[in-house]
Amino acid sequence: MTNSIDVNADFPRIPRINEPAPDFEANSTQGPIKLSSYTGKKWVVLFAHPADFTPVCTTEFIGFAKYAKDFEKLNVQLLGVSEDSNFSHLAWIDNIKQNFDVSIPFPVIDDRAGQVAAKFGLIHPNESQTATVRALFIIDDQGLIRAFIYYPLTTGRSVEEVLRVVEALQVADKHKVATPEGWKKGDKVIVPAPATQAAAEIRHTEGYDTVDWYFSKKSLPVDAVD
Ligand code: BEZ
Repeated sequence: MTNSIDVNADFPRIPRINEPAPDFEANSTQGPIKLSSYTGKKWVVLFAHPADFTPVCTTEFIGFAKYAKDFEKLNVQLLGVSEDSNFSHLAWIDNIKQNFDVSIPFPVIDDRAGQVAAKFGLIHPNESQTATVRALFIIDDQGLIRAFIYYPLTTGRSVEEVLRVVEALQVADKHKVATPEGWKKGDKVIVPAPATQAAAEIRHTEGYDTVDWYFSKKSLPVDAVD
């Protein structure tokens, strides 16, 4: 008997890193959205919430609104989505403005048809049979999924962490480096390890902050992310 697992059997299809994001067209609080229309132009952070008019989701929306300008500076389009109606989204956005004096600057998608939920594996039946989990996808300007998280209904996401990951991905792409635990803009980055014995032998001569042949860091120019 083999021990192989069919990763697609009996599971919702969950998009994987570096796969093209599944395309969809849907209505939103700012008009029709076609995900692929951002390809070649902008990064996208697509985030699902379980339901409008709920407290944890409200705190997350306030967080995304707080950092919206920072996402904009990184050329990121924020897109919220849930299985609530457009009217519900509009009423909730208005309610957030009334209660918290916070304007929601990004579109919120009406996914009553469940197409986004199906394509992005947002229903996790052991968590909820009906509500989408707190999933979030970072999609680059080539339309590829670069990172994602799935959180349960009870746990609000850290918007600051999402921003940090987008920054880290963009720096890694631009400078062909990696970023260490907790990296933030301005911190040193990881230089790729040498791939040959000859390259390893000279690594300590290359002017990096080198601890060992496989572990080197360097500083980037101050405006490296911009
Ligand atoms: C909330 O956002 O507070 C929430 C939403 C769905 C289930 C539980 C909590």
